[in-house]
Amino acid sequence: MQDFIDRLPKAELHVHIEGTLEPELMLQLAERNAVGLRYSTVEEARAAYQFSDLRSFLNIYYEGARVLLREEDFHDLTWAYLLKARQNNVIHTEIFFDPQIHTERGVPFDTVLSGIRAALDAGRRELDITSHLLLCFLRHLSADAAMSTLEQALPHRDAILGVGLDGSEVGNPPSKFASVFERARKKGFLSVAHAGEEGPPDYIWQALDVLRVRRIDHGVRCLENRRLVERLRRDQVPLTVCPLSNVKLRVFDRIEDHNIGQLLEAGLCVSVNSDDPAYFGAYVNDNYRAVRDAHGLGRSEILRLARNSLVASFLDDTEKRRCLADLEASAAGAR
Ligand code: HPA
Ligand code: ZN
Repeated sequence: MQDFIDRLPKAELHVHIEGTLEPELMLQLAERNAVGLRYSTVEEARAAYQFSDLRSFLNIYYEGARVLLREEDFHDLTWAYLLKARQNNVIHTEIFFDPQIHTERGVPFDTVLSGIRAALDAGRRELDITSHLLLCFLRHLSADAAMSTLEQALPHRDAILGVGLDGSEVGNPPSKFASVFERARKKGFLSVAHAGEEGPPDYIWQALDVLRVRRIDHGVRCLENRRLVERLRRDQVPLTVCPLSNVKLRVFDRIEDHNIGQLLEAGLCVSVNSDDPAYFGAYVNDNYRAVRDAHGLGRSEILRLARNSLVASFLDDTEKRRCLADLEASAAGAR
């Protein structure tokens, strides 16, 4: 069964590139760039990765990102993730980046983007992994700050497929960014948003109806509202769920308590993703295995999760059909 998960070609749709910074690379970059860190060993860093909620995680995640200064740092970070993605049989990935973490520290937007893009382009050529890049606005910062970040992205419309919303959710509803998402849409960007991770179902409604997003990131709190579940089911709005992230950030106490089984039973288009794998100690296949083991998922449910990851991707129809055919062939070969 372990083989089955490893072997299935899949897409990853919810991964923050800054959240893939492994402590080994963090320490290397700290040295290369002469940035002081409060960790001097990998063990010390890992030991500090104890989170009580989203906010406590974000503090550590922003702190780690301070070692990223130059274009090659962003390249090396992204390349390291792509190598992990290949090990997990990820054939397509849609990566979030948080430019404001970097521009606030004086790192130019173009430095961040060029480094990430160079690695993604090499990933396509050398690893056969296709990818899209999604720019996330930090929701605990102002709408004006998001708008000026969007302005910086406009000349790079061909390098950035869409926009998203991450950061500290509670108290920062999607509606705060209505005008930013409207402008992004008019400029041709697709959109997604984190909603219903810690925040209430109303934030999911707002993401759908005010921001008009194409997917919801997390969305696990949707089950608190029957009408919302019906809407998500009817429109097959994808939910990019990150089970082990939810446990690490205490959205659920244990993986056994996660509601992924109910989300699937409700007929929702759920996929499984890693979120911030370096900080949560789990890449995408670890997440599949965790939900399989804790919830007794069989091959057909695992296959459905992988299928959903491709269906919910922003690949074009031709690419999507090809990837889905590869998935079905791989699953049939494993029988
Ligand atoms: N939620 C919100 N913001 C984030 C996350 C998350 O899971 N990961 C990185 N930034
Ligand atoms: Zn996330």
